[in-house]
Amino acid sequence: MNKGKITQKVFVPEAPGLEKTIDETRQGSAFEDLRQAGPKARNAYIETYGCQMNFSDTEIIASVLTDMGYGFTQDELTADLVLLNTCAIRENAEEKVWNRLKALKRVKKTRPNTVVGVMGCMAERLKAQLMDREQLVDLVVGPDAYRDIPRLVEEAETGQKSVNVLLSREETYADISPIRLNSNGVTSFISIMRGCDNMCSFCVVPFTRGRERSRDPESIVNEAKELVAQGYKEVTLLGQNVDSYHYEDTNFAQLLEKVALISPDLRVRFSTSHPKDIVDDVLHTMAKYENICNYIHLPVQSGSSRILEVMRRGYSREWYMNKVNRIREIIPDCSISTDIITGFCSETEEDHQETLSMVEWARYSMAFMFFYSERPGTLAARKYPDDVDLEIKKQRLAEVIELQNRIQREISFACIGKTCKVLIEGNSKRSQDDWCGRNDHNQMVIFPKNGSDLKPGDYVMVKITEATSITLKGEVMA
Ligand code: 5AD
Ligand code: SF4
Repeated sequence: MNKGKITQKVFVPEAPGLEKTIDETRQGSAFEDLRQAGPKARNAYIETYGCQMNFSDTEIIASVLTDMGYGFTQDELTADLVLLNTCAIRENAEEKVWNRLKALKRVKKTRPNTVVGVMGCMAERLKAQLMDREQLVDLVVGPDAYRDIPRLVEEAETGQKSVNVLLSREETYADISPIRLNSNGVTSFISIMRGCDNMCSFCVVPFTRGRERSRDPESIVNEAKELVAQGYKEVTLLGQNVDSYHYEDTNFAQLLEKVALISPDLRVRFSTSHPKDIVDDVLHTMAKYENICNYIHLPVQSGSSRILEVMRRGYSREWYMNKVNRIREIIPDCSISTDIITGFCSETEEDHQETLSMVEWARYSMAFMFFYSERPGTLAARKYPDDVDLEIKKQRLAEVIELQNRIQREISFACIGKTCKVLIEGNSKRSQDDWCGRNDHNQMVIFPKNGSDLKPGDYVMVKITEATSITLKGEVMA
């Protein structure tokens, strides 16, 4: 199978640049050089926006399309089917998609029979507007309706508007084998659950992705084994809240262990953890298996207990700090990253100072930082006025970013002189003469190839010689 690469800059939660964190919603990315359709077959063009979960969904969509006989193109002007897999988490994520849809009008002009579809979270949230506004969209498919794509496309091809945004309580796509078009052949993602039951007051996800449901562990383990057989060396288990994974008798700690046991050569990561749900069992499992990376993404959102209460996060500042202490007690060398929102409803300067002091205290290895953007339908939109001035939200965000940048630089600089085990993922973006990969802590490490016969997928010990806030540079140990 031809492996495609993503053509544009993509947000990878595991390797972000802080400069990208003001708005983590990345550019859409299209598949490149994918399996070509035969002469009579049809071609699809897909762009993906949003979180890693969406990228994982795109791999399921690609699988459904492949079964329909579609090939893939990276040129929207040659596509019979143009799909945008969308994100609704913040207002500007949606704005980007609207602008993109306007730009796609030229595709319709050149090829009037091209079917244009919107998938994912925006589809669920905005079905009516998507169909009406400027008559741009032929097809709207929500996150639980990907199996219905063949029927929906057929309907759209006859000139009818076609929609399925029904949410399901059971759908996990467990039996659909994702097509890993956007992969480097070394690291991969496995979706272990869908939806979210947490109802944080700022968040639209429970509405767009529906109720939480976990996938059969056997299908997850089998998918991981297949990846190992194909030469992959790292899997990230994905879910909105992996700590509440539960399928019959299997909880998340047990699932993690099952995946870790597949091969000591397979690195295992997971995302996202919820501070209120992550338990000692998970931490002990991480400590027990060397191939489970010492890295936890543990979104704090705010450092103020009062704001956390308004956010309905289910923990206080003290609870969160105890959790971080517990993590460091059980896994002394564990990196923790986070998500932060500034300027949430009623946030005062005092609350903001508490967020800054939390950032200072926790020493996150990385953070995704956003200013609050009200999402229609959420509890916050219904109940609390969005009363922090935009300029103040942005100012507070800039302060958090500046502080986090400083801490990240300090963490990176402290690595100089140390040696770490790196899994090579491919060429460095800047130079074909350098390899890049990540260490256990999820730090990106770049080092010269120096004519060695190393290749992507190899583990290598690298001595760190230089650092910036987002990358480490080093040399292979002889
Ligand atoms: N405004 C700003 N940021 C948000 N997030 C979720 N909803 C919103 C919102 N309405 C952030 C949270 C979450 C991350 C994925 O996106 O920090 O953890
Ligand atoms: Fe949204 Fe909270 Fe669920 Fe995360 S845990 S997806 S922030 S509702």
